[in-house]
Amino acid sequence: MCGIIGYTGRQDAASIILEGLKRLEYRGYDSAGIALSGKGCAPKVVKKAARVEILSRLVREAKLAGSCGIGHTRWATHGKVSDENAHPHVSSDGVIVLAHNGVIENYVQLRKSLTALGYTFHSETDTEALANLVALHFSRLESLGVSENRLEEAVRLALAEVEGTYGIAVMCVGNPDEIVGARKGSPLVLGVGRGENMLASDVTAFGGRMQNVVYLDDGQIVRMNRDDFVISTLKNESVAPVLNEIDWRMEDAELGSFPHFMLKEIFEQPVSLENAMRGRFSQDASTAQFGGLNMSARELRQVDRILFLGCGTAWHACLLAKHMIERYARIPVDVEYSSEFRYRNSPLEKNTLVFTISQSGETLDTLEAQREAQRKGYRVLGISNVVGATIPRENDGGIYQHSGPEIGVASTKAFTAQVLVASMLSLYFGRMRDLSFADGREMVKAFQSLPGLVSCVLDQAENVERIAKRYAGCNDFLFLGRLEMFPIALEGALKLKEISYIHAEGYPAAEMKHGPIALICPECPTVAIAMAGEMFKKCVSSIQEVKARKGDVIVVTDCPDDLPDGLADEVIFVPRAHDCILPILATIPLQLLSYYIAVARDCDVDKPRNLAKSVTVE
Ligand code: G6P
Repeated sequence: MCGIIGYTGRQDAASIILEGLKRLEYRGYDSAGIALSGKGCAPKVVKKAARVEILSRLVREAKLAGSCGIGHTRWATHGKVSDENAHPHVSSDGVIVLAHNGVIENYVQLRKSLTALGYTFHSETDTEALANLVALHFSRLESLGVSENRLEEAVRLALAEVEGTYGIAVMCVGNPDEIVGARKGSPLVLGVGRGENMLASDVTAFGGRMQNVVYLDDGQIVRMNRDDFVISTLKNESVAPVLNEIDWRMEDAELGSFPHFMLKEIFEQPVSLENAMRGRFSQDASTAQFGGLNMSARELRQVDRILFLGCGTAWHACLLAKHMIERYARIPVDVEYSSEFRYRNSPLEKNTLVFTISQSGETLDTLEAQREAQRKGYRVLGISNVVGATIPRENDGGIYQHSGPEIGVASTKAFTAQVLVASMLSLYFGRMRDLSFADGREMVKAFQSLPGLVSCVLDQAENVERIAKRYAGCNDFLFLGRLEMFPIALEGALKLKEISYIHAEGYPAAEMKHGPIALICPECPTVAIAMAGEMFKKCVSSIQEVKARKGDVIVVTDCPDDLPDGLADEVIFVPRAHDCILPILATIPLQLLSYYIAVARDCDVDKPRNLAKSVTVE
């Protein structure tokens, strides 16, 4: 939530910061702002309750110039969406300018004491208290005659009084080339260049400008100018920086010929799924292999329970992991929302292995749930997409999805890769236990056929678009599926609500009669996932119950010929495939359906209202 960026160098800071802000907009887009420092004068700030595109125009009109500055794109927590509440915030004495991602929990007390000292407030944000607090320490240090590294010291003293989470970028009057950054609970990456340095909430903001980065840890502070940077802890211990090279492909973060990132990412799935599998099957092709689990075969065999933790779409991937691992590896699996787990005293069995799933690797609830499990002495592995994010850096081992940057706020290719990795894990654990060589080989073959089968489903995009247009006017949808198709129904409903603002519910098909059936009417279509196999007839019965109440039904199926005549109003076909990959194939039409419905309703597909892709507040 919220993206921050800072640049100090020799180039036009405004254009570099605005470009970076565009790439950070997935973290929030309630407002955007930029501040450039000037020689001997207060930093100039332009901010607006608008998207970065509008901000760019305002910055051009204001003829903002300079080679050092900070920027922010906001997901509102404290204070409404307004120009005043937009960041960066300037201290009331005009000396400090600050952009913040996170929540200052004791801002009310800070505001009171700062007001008593004469500082004034012009916004409703928690952040302004921090700007004024840094200003207070900055002026106290001045009166003590401290001139060296005064901004860094003032930030350090201010943060010692702060409760909550932050990733910040701060500038001051009088040192126009310097930016100080610090983090606790919100991500911050330092980009190291030649004659220029940057700070940002994540590496995508650098847009390929910085090949070398340093991921800051919680409790660290960085002071940088165009030629140098120094990292230390909030307790003033020095930190030796660890440089990481980033492998950046510009086209991954560009739309290309697609109208929206979501559509681009849906169509990237044959490749992203291939990438998630690359090098991960054994020589004899009967099992999967993972390089980063950091556990011996013996330790893995001793695992007798697994707990999966995640939020949102990642939580749906956790549910799929339960189905797959219980089915193929016969290990009992529990699933909890990260946000619930971290405050519950869940009684875990001794040999429980914990997995977190997080695309961004930064979701605060999942990060804290991971820390809580580690504090209790459990080993935590992770499935993440963003390399170098906090969750994969802090866990005890894990698996990267290799999906490439996912920019659309609604998760698509990251979800299918998470499900694939979970399914491959079920094979891996299964082969260490009772799953036969022959069954393992069948699964590997199925995984290898997946990219081609996904392309077949994508070939039906036009048909799905037509269906979407037919039902785009409806304001309620029901999604039904059974067993491993139930999490897919949940995910289908979530996608639709996220980007079309349509009320949608996912249910296990047989549960429909215990409540949701009351919703059924001609204006509430049902999307039913009915695949061949033992559950097919049961699903058909549920569909009959919908039809009997005059509800329209869109059936997603791999056996359209087995559907009774006249039962389905629309049919979306997915190819017949092994059960270990079928949930992924069933997901694709639901992604397309929600996408095309959102487009038909003229919704902002890539930036749905009120949402953010990376939720770094509680
Ligand atoms: C937000 C996003 C969702 C995502 C969830 C978890 O709510 O809008 O799309 O599923 O966070 O994100 P993560 O990065 O942990 O997978």
